[in-house]
Amino acid sequence: MESGQDTPDNGAPTKGSATGHSEIDVLLHTEQTFPPPPGFAAQANASDPEIYDQAASDPEAFWSEWARKLEWIEPFQQVLDWSNPPFARWFADGKLNASVNCLDRHVEGGLGERVAFHWEGEGDEKRAVTYDELLDLTQRFGNVLRSHGIGKGDVVGIYLPMLPETVASILACARIGAIHNVVFGGFSPESVKDRMAFSEAKALVTADATLRRGNAIPMKDALEDVMGEMPTVERVFVVDRCGTGPGMTEGRDFSWQDEVAGAEPTCEPEVMDAEDPLFILYTSGSTGKPKGILHTTGGYLTGATATHELVFDLKPESDVYWCAADIGWITGHTYIVYGPLANGATSVMYEGAPDYPTPARWWEIIERYEVTTLYTAPTAIRAFMKWGSEYPEGSDLSSLRLLGSVGEPINPRAWLWYHRVIGGERCPIVDTWWQTETGSIMITPLPGLTTTKPGSATVPFPGVQAKILDDEGVEISEGAGYLVLTHPWPSMTRGIYRDDERFVETYWSRYDSQTYAVGDAARIDEDGYFWVIGRIDDVINVSGHRLSTMEIESAIVSHEGIAEAAVVGIPDEMTGQAIVAFAICESGTESDAMEDVLRDHVAEKIGKLARPKRIVLAEDLPKTRSGKIMRRLLRDIAEGRDLGDVTTLRDPGVVDTLRRAFDGDAPR
Ligand code: PRX
Repeated sequence: MESGQDTPDNGAPTKGSATGHSEIDVLLHTEQTFPPPPGFAAQANASDPEIYDQAASDPEAFWSEWARKLEWIEPFQQVLDWSNPPFARWFADGKLNASVNCLDRHVEGGLGERVAFHWEGEGDEKRAVTYDELLDLTQRFGNVLRSHGIGKGDVVGIYLPMLPETVASILACARIGAIHNVVFGGFSPESVKDRMAFSEAKALVTADATLRRGNAIPMKDALEDVMGEMPTVERVFVVDRCGTGPGMTEGRDFSWQDEVAGAEPTCEPEVMDAEDPLFILYTSGSTGKPKGILHTTGGYLTGATATHELVFDLKPESDVYWCAADIGWITGHTYIVYGPLANGATSVMYEGAPDYPTPARWWEIIERYEVTTLYTAPTAIRAFMKWGSEYPEGSDLSSLRLLGSVGEPINPRAWLWYHRVIGGERCPIVDTWWQTETGSIMITPLPGLTTTKPGSATVPFPGVQAKILDDEGVEISEGAGYLVLTHPWPSMTRGIYRDDERFVETYWSRYDSQTYAVGDAARIDEDGYFWVIGRIDDVINVSGHRLSTMEIESAIVSHEGIAEAAVVGIPDEMTGQAIVAFAICESGTESDAMEDVLRDHVAEKIGKLARPKRIVLAEDLPKTRSGKIMRRLLRDIAEGRDLGDVTTLRDPGVVDTLRRAFDGDAPR
């Protein structure tokens, strides 16, 4: 339940200002609210507040109106089938193809020459990829997949950097009805292997290497060690990104570019039922095993397009939209690929780090393409604050008209800095709350209608019903409790891939089978505004990335000589939460180097994003008499709090030893 420094739930400022913005400090005290600027409201896609009441009185009518804007091969008659909760079916008798909705219909409508992506490589490479070109790449790669025997219902893994080829690979799967399973490029080969094995992927698309600060970091060769443990993967397609010439196994590995160049240019789209799977995306849960979150075609696309058009106030003819997330996360799926493309948007895609070669990089990109809409995460905003306002102030950001935030609670100080320094005080900010499981934005301002309060994601999107419940399931009209969604919505996950039982148990059994328990604590205020506090399960949110404590613990104990480990999340000024691990060594294996060795080991097992900020080597962990680790006490130790009652511990002396071990370690 921890969040960043000046937490949204109390709005209190921290001492001193990292940026020296004393006006921000003043605002933090005044709890100012921000109505939509009149000029913005006058031109907004959603400008009539009636939208909320209308959608609430008949959510199915609201959503079906959005669904009808898609191109259907066979139109749907049924809207929602909720006869078997929690398994929803939306638009189930309709047929469509997601890639046709994202590409063909724009090209057929005469927009083939519109830029879909202004792509910038990490260095000075630039490519403007039009809808025509993206359709061509997609069809060709769709044919490549088909020619290798991959078709409807097969799972295809995608482990790639941020490239136009990544989008084409995703849409090629959608075109032929294969289910894509994208793994964020920052995850380790080991994590890729697990996700391919769990989903029985038939093919994997990767790159020779990814560029990081001028260095080519191998991807394909790094996968070689785990290839033997992915027996279902029959084909590997390798995008040549860095020209490193990785080892290729004949008959299994193929060059993406060569195959595409030799492929037929026209690829007949597969006719998909609205409820046919579109993709799975693994996310961390409270156990050590990631969950394959399943999304289907018609409902997902409906949620993606409706929210993208209304929340980002998209004007496809004039906007240049930039979602700076990675395609490997749900934000990238919905708001880089499906939402923007289905809506015919022109986007920016940037391959590299935000401070490469300097912290001015993003702001130069915004000036260069005259970006109108920027969607990013609080952790990035806090990093920019730390690097200094002089970087954004060195570029012309006057093209911006709307800003977005996602992934974790945004602390009011960062919100106000974003508003002032990036938005020039003229851009509404949409703080959007949602999850991999929800598929699209659930709680958010509509920028032409909603008065915003820094730190609050405000109110549910039209057609979405959210509540705060107490332990017993009684609704709290003002105050804190558990956030739930109480009515089905089209882009909701249809399940955990091949694990219905876990799906029901994780999300739909806390209260009843029609109440989706999201796993977050939140507060509702006197105006009905939602303030999301943070996770209530064993999930840590580091820089907006969800990580499971158990997954990290199993990575640590998989190292030789480690007997036991416990992982907790603590508040961190930059990353929202940070990982602190306590590990017990088997006797005789302790060494000064162990902490670093273990941190690297976790990075190797899961990915750098899971590397603990600190690992404290201990002799024992605080356990109850029944042997359960008391994580609350570990959090108290890691945050320097008073421990209170420790008499229920099997060995109350343990906590003092741990505290000394913790304090004795210099923080990193
Ligand atoms: O805890 C909430 C937090 O991120 C979780 C979902 O993580 P993930 O599935 O990886 O999706 C992230 C991008 C949609 C949520 O349960 N979260 C996400 N957005 C916000 C947020 N917390 C507060 N405010 C937000 N705007």
